[in-house]
Amino acid sequence: MHHDEEFDAFVPFPEEETDEKTDDEEYLLKDLNDEQRAAVMHFRGPLMIVAAAGSGKTRVITRRIANLIAKGIKPWQILGVTFTNKAAEEMRKRVDNLVDAEGLILSTFHSFCLRVLRANGEAVDLNRDFVIFDRADQKASVKRVLKKLEFDPSIYKPLEIISEISRIKSKGYFLEDYISTRGSNLEVNKAEIIAGYQNFLKENNAVDFDDLLLLGLKVFSEHSNILEQYRRRFRFVLIDEFQDTNRLQYDLMKLISMARQAEARSLSITASIP
Ligand SMILES: Nc1ncnc2c1ncn2[C@@H]1O[C@H](COP(=O)(O)OP(=O)(O)O)[C@@H](O)[C@H]1O
Ligand SMILES: [Mg+2]
Repeated sequence: MHHDEEFDAFVPFPEEETDEKTDDEEYLLKDLNDEQRAAVMHFRGPLMIVAAAGSGKTRVITRRIANLIAKGIKPWQILGVTFTNKAAEEMRKRVDNLVDAEGLILSTFHSFCLRVLRANGEAVDLNRDFVIFDRADQKASVKRVLKKLEFDPSIYKPLEIISEISRIKSKGYFLEDYISTRGSNLEVNKAEIIAGYQNFLKENNAVDFDDLLLLGLKVFSEHSNILEQYRRRFRFVLIDEFQDTNRLQYDLMKLISMARQAEARSLSITASIP
């Protein structure tokens, strides 16, 4: 509206950014011990926090995110990753209580990959409106394949097949590739079931949870232009509960947080020691 300019001119004391930041920093450093403070105030470059469970690591991550935002980093330039949706929600609540964090991505590895695939699925031959098969769907899929192949489900137990599939995918293999290159490690019937499973998913425009990670990583490793977009966007990547990351998750985050110069890397991880 044309009144906007007039109105702006009458704002009595426009907020000074610098004052705001100082106040925020005091507030953000409250109730932290010296080590926590140092970690929260750390700005550029890699950071690793290793401490016992319950010692305040998640508190550091959430305060650090808030501190980055208070220092002028845009919330959408920060990616916070953790392992469960519940933990991600809890972290978001803690950050929201401290600063305006609209646009901040705080999610699990899987939901981050889901987001990447909804936006770039076609880069890995995935229809954008793909569906996600949960454990029950996976089990039903294996049962269907067994029926079609006329194999006995008491010999080829669906849950065991699913675990085997997940084990293969978690190592970073696509089932098709695994079967063609390492298939000799598998019993021939099992290889057929596993191939049938992946076909069934494809026919249904479906992916399972492990596929989300595999395909997310594939998008980035095969499409440097897409990777570059995400690298430019996420100036800060923070991972909580890093001790639980598998190879795929680690590779994924490493790719995204890798800057041209090593010293500009902004990956920060928090791990629990037993
Ligand atoms: N410096 C501190 N002073 C008081 N309470 C703290 C401090 N750091 C963390 N806490 C509290 O201790 C509990 C565990 O902290 P959390 O960050 O979840 O630990 P971790 O992630 O290491 O398991 C939480 O309730 C948190 O609010
Ligand atoms: Mg924690």
